[in-house]
Amino acid sequence: MDIHASTASPAVIRRSDYRAPDWLVPDIALRFELDAALTTVRATLSVTRNGQHDRPLRLDGDGLVPLEVRVDGRVLDQAEWHLEAGALILTLPNDAHQVETLVELAPERNSKLMGLYASGGLLCTQCEAEGFRRITFFPDRPDILSRYSVHMSAAKARFPILLANGDPVEQGEGDNGRHWAVWNDPYPKPCYLFALVAGDLACNADRFVTMSGREVQLGIWVKEADLPRTAHAMQALKNSMAWDERVYGREYDLDVFNIVAVADFNFGAMENKGLNIFNSRYILADPDTATDIDYDGVEGVVAHEYFHNWSGNRVTCRDWFQLSLKEGFTVFRDQNFSADMGSHAVKRIEDVRILRAGQFPEDSGPLAHPVRPESYMEISNFYTATIYNKGAELIRMIALMLGPERFRAGCDLYFDRHDGQAATCEDFVRAMEDGGGIDLGQFRLWYEQAGTPRVRALMAHDPASGTVELALTQSVPPTPGQPEKQPMAIPLRVALFDRATGTHHGDELLKLTQAEQRFTFPDFAAAPVLSINRDFSAPVIVDSDRSQADLAFLSAHDDDPFARYEAMQQLMVNVLVGRIGGQSADDAAVVDAIRHTLTDSTLDPAFVAEAIRLPSEAYLGDQMHMVDPDAIHAARDALQHRIGAELEPLWRDIHARLRANGFSLSPAAKGARKLRNAALHYLVASGAADGPAIAFDQFSQADNMTERQAALGTLANGESAERIAALDIFYNRYRADPLTLDKWFQTQAFAFHPGTVDLIEELGRHKDFTLTNPNRVRALYGAFSGNQWAFHHRSGKGYRLVADCILALDPINPQTAARLVPPLGRWKRFGPERAGLMQAELRRILDRPGLSKDVLEQVRKSLD
Ligand code: PHE
Ligand code: ZN
Repeated sequence: MDIHASTASPAVIRRSDYRAPDWLVPDIALRFELDAALTTVRATLSVTRNGQHDRPLRLDGDGLVPLEVRVDGRVLDQAEWHLEAGALILTLPNDAHQVETLVELAPERNSKLMGLYASGGLLCTQCEAEGFRRITFFPDRPDILSRYSVHMSAAKARFPILLANGDPVEQGEGDNGRHWAVWNDPYPKPCYLFALVAGDLACNADRFVTMSGREVQLGIWVKEADLPRTAHAMQALKNSMAWDERVYGREYDLDVFNIVAVADFNFGAMENKGLNIFNSRYILADPDTATDIDYDGVEGVVAHEYFHNWSGNRVTCRDWFQLSLKEGFTVFRDQNFSADMGSHAVKRIEDVRILRAGQFPEDSGPLAHPVRPESYMEISNFYTATIYNKGAELIRMIALMLGPERFRAGCDLYFDRHDGQAATCEDFVRAMEDGGGIDLGQFRLWYEQAGTPRVRALMAHDPASGTVELALTQSVPPTPGQPEKQPMAIPLRVALFDRATGTHHGDELLKLTQAEQRFTFPDFAAAPVLSINRDFSAPVIVDSDRSQADLAFLSAHDDDPFARYEAMQQLMVNVLVGRIGGQSADDAAVVDAIRHTLTDSTLDPAFVAEAIRLPSEAYLGDQMHMVDPDAIHAARDALQHRIGAELEPLWRDIHARLRANGFSLSPAAKGARKLRNAALHYLVASGAADGPAIAFDQFSQADNMTERQAALGTLANGESAERIAALDIFYNRYRADPLTLDKWFQTQAFAFHPGTVDLIEELGRHKDFTLTNPNRVRALYGAFSGNQWAFHHRSGKGYRLVADCILALDPINPQTAARLVPPLGRWKRFGPERAGLMQAELRRILDRPGLSKDVLEQVRKSLD
């Protein structure tokens, strides 16, 4: 054995290296003898030579040993095949053959949760991106589309339910208490969409009649005890199916659609054809255990996975560099669906908040990459906010520039043209050009250039001519591998407000295409107030010279809800950045704007709750060149206290007034809870003596988790007897329910409390903490590393705890371990002392022999 094997650099895969496959696999038949300890898999592949060449057949494998290899029925001897980096290599004489392999798997020992694994007594699969090669030898790339026939057999008592993609065709009883089932999927698909599930599952069964009148059997499969928690997911599924018909003209195409919830899952959910597999946190919800955010998460993820049936499955990706083709588009689709189900204004604000919290930092750090990356070491590291959320913003800009009818025409052409194909981002853009009638030449840079563009907006008014001139300049910052950038095509919605009336003469879409551009607007007797990037029309950072007075004006008058929210946020950011810099800041402007917003009875309470929320500590850090987490925390805390204290009667009134009678999921009820929780938060922040008692009262009286968890979170920030009592009560009430116990860990990890970093160490040793469940890991360490003040504790202990977790987790579950690396990679922004501590932890990880390529890639890039 080569002793350097583990230190050798894993290969870098490049987009420019794409080559069409040498062999195709039109059909595959799989036979599974399922068992948690030992499963056998017999795969029969029909293979055909693709083009004229004499290259061998290469079947990817990861940790597989071929027990038998046959070609056209004949067993090959050992000399006729060999393994190369896990892959099975065969030289085949003719243009078409039948290749058969037999392998054994040990699902219960599969802790990576990729391939076939055991979770809570179930057997299930996860194949995206490259998990199928852990199940059987196969050319594991998304441009190989095959028809699947799947035969499963298992002990009937332990695995009474056997599910796979497509439609069930046959089932029967076997010997020794075993039974079997066959499923066929008529739609050719890439192997990353393969799935099977075996286990003791109960079904929430329903039906949906499609627009052409076909009946589809819907099933949501969970543990019997969880059945009552599946109603919301089922409603979301039916709503999604109807929405995709109404908005995109897309109908479901099989006779059954099944969803299975599993407790151990690396991501949110997976869109396997006809058999979606979900992290149970995106299926199970009831008022006692799920917050309104959880309910919305269920709705959004169910929709997302369902929408993939067209944007992802019927039209899939040619290679993994095209990942945003399916993910960006599908996020855009699920965002619009959720907006239609609830409030457009609030959904847009939430989505921008998520983009800024997750994607902007990525785009400005060492892991920045374009929406269509050029290279990767481990594709699992590219399921990022850039691919998903920035990718969705790109589609949104195209839709904005085209308008709804032409965007729909572009989508129709895209689905028509590429149905049954493995396509590229370029194919999508071209369909939009051809179907929508637009030139997206320069726009393509959005797929190529990483980094968040900055737009500087300066407005000048000439009283003599009555013209307003808006000077816009743009720049895209350098990112790894891309020192030089070209100007982008940036669609900016603007409106100019008349100060006297609080109105404007119409909203305009400006197309900024050059580094510097001027736009003039006639007929302004007085200087107007600029509202720009309305509805967040482009994913950029806007710097403007608008005064605090102008921002206050917009926070009271802008008719675009996002712009109104944004004005308020900017007003707060300016005050906070001033405070952080040690200047005496004008808190009164913020207090007044909040008072004004709270007392405007025309506003939706859900919007009010968003608007009055202070920017997060992390977002404030992003506004600064050097981040001082302690100064940020102190400034934000002080402003929060001031807002709490000055508006105390209002908070008390809102909190008392919005008490509900009976739980409802109506938008009005959700909005009321959101605002009530914000009021509680400010009331406690005011320092009022009865604050903790009021929070504890809400915690105890609540008939829903939204209010209960908010009260717990508020208490967790302070020091009080109520804090200890509430955490204790919560733990004892929910200790047996893993998803809810996650909230107990997460609430403490998020807490603004000087002891958080020590508490994390304790919780990491808690008997209910485990590294084998990704949700639990994220609830503790994922949440903690997002708590800027606590994670960046000057002792460096936060860094050490996260690095320890990465090292311990890597051998168990490298994908989940790698996702904990990025916060450590932001060292350049945190001053020399913290930077040194963070780099030291990254180097300590790098020094560990046998690191996975997942963690290796992220750590190496983070040290650059
Ligand atoms: N394709 C899934 C989705 O976004 C995400 C996922 C990726 C799930 C990889 C599992 C593994 O819908
Ligand atoms: Zn997706």
